[in-house]
Amino acid sequence: MTTVIRLLGADEVALAAADLIQSSIEAGGRVLGLATGASPQATYTELAHRVVAGRLSLAECSAYLLDEYVGLGSGHPQNYGEVIRRDLVDHVDLPDTRVLGPDGDAGDLSAECRRYDKAVTEAHIDMQILGIGSNGHIGFNEPGSPLTSTTRVVSLTEQTRRDNARHFDVSTQVPRLVVTQGLATICRARRIVLVALGEHKAAAVAHAALGPVSSECPASVLQRHPDATILADSAAASRLP
Ligand code: F6R
Repeated sequence: MTTVIRLLGADEVALAAADLIQSSIEAGGRVLGLATGASPQATYTELAHRVVAGRLSLAECSAYLLDEYVGLGSGHPQNYGEVIRRDLVDHVDLPDTRVLGPDGDAGDLSAECRRYDKAVTEAHIDMQILGIGSNGHIGFNEPGSPLTSTTRVVSLTEQTRRDNARHFDVSTQVPRLVVTQGLATICRARRIVLVALGEHKAAAVAHAALGPVSSECPASVLQRHPDATILADSAAASRLP
């Protein structure tokens, strides 16, 4: 079952998400699953404030990334390992060496996908943070992704490449391939919090929360998860009754 919590704006969403993450850590849940992108940025900033203020520590935590571009190179500013370092790791006491992600530059990507899926599964993610694509993707499980999918290489849809083009100098630089945790991999997390901000996410949020569970809207798989919460600002929640 998915619980949807409607909040006024991005600040309230960030506070509520940080509260859920903090309570999970304080209950002993030290393995985090991290999304990159705009949606969790304010949540990560709020976590950093709490760490700096001495109200929270991530020193005993480890973290696993959801996904990575293929072939971008580890030094590229949009490599998700780099993005999460800038957005979170540099500002908190989470040891850099305990932040792990799939290697999008691996020579044998199939072997890397198998390795990473096993690593994530064995780590038992306690709290998975998600964003949602305007087409309903979570991780980079684009529409049509099997609900039983595990970590694999996928082709981004043109819509996702357009959505992500704002992070690149020119849109043609957006990679076509990514490694992503699968829907089944993501759903192995004990708790999930999905952050949705903005009107362009409203249709995806409505389908994810209330529509049929189907690979047409990959996020709808969360309806089958025992502890998934969608935190939506009023624009992202605007298509909910
Ligand atoms: C990123 C990821 C994606 C994003 C989604 C929303 O690691 O897994 O599913 O969460 O594309 O992106 P933003 O938050 O930039 O709108």
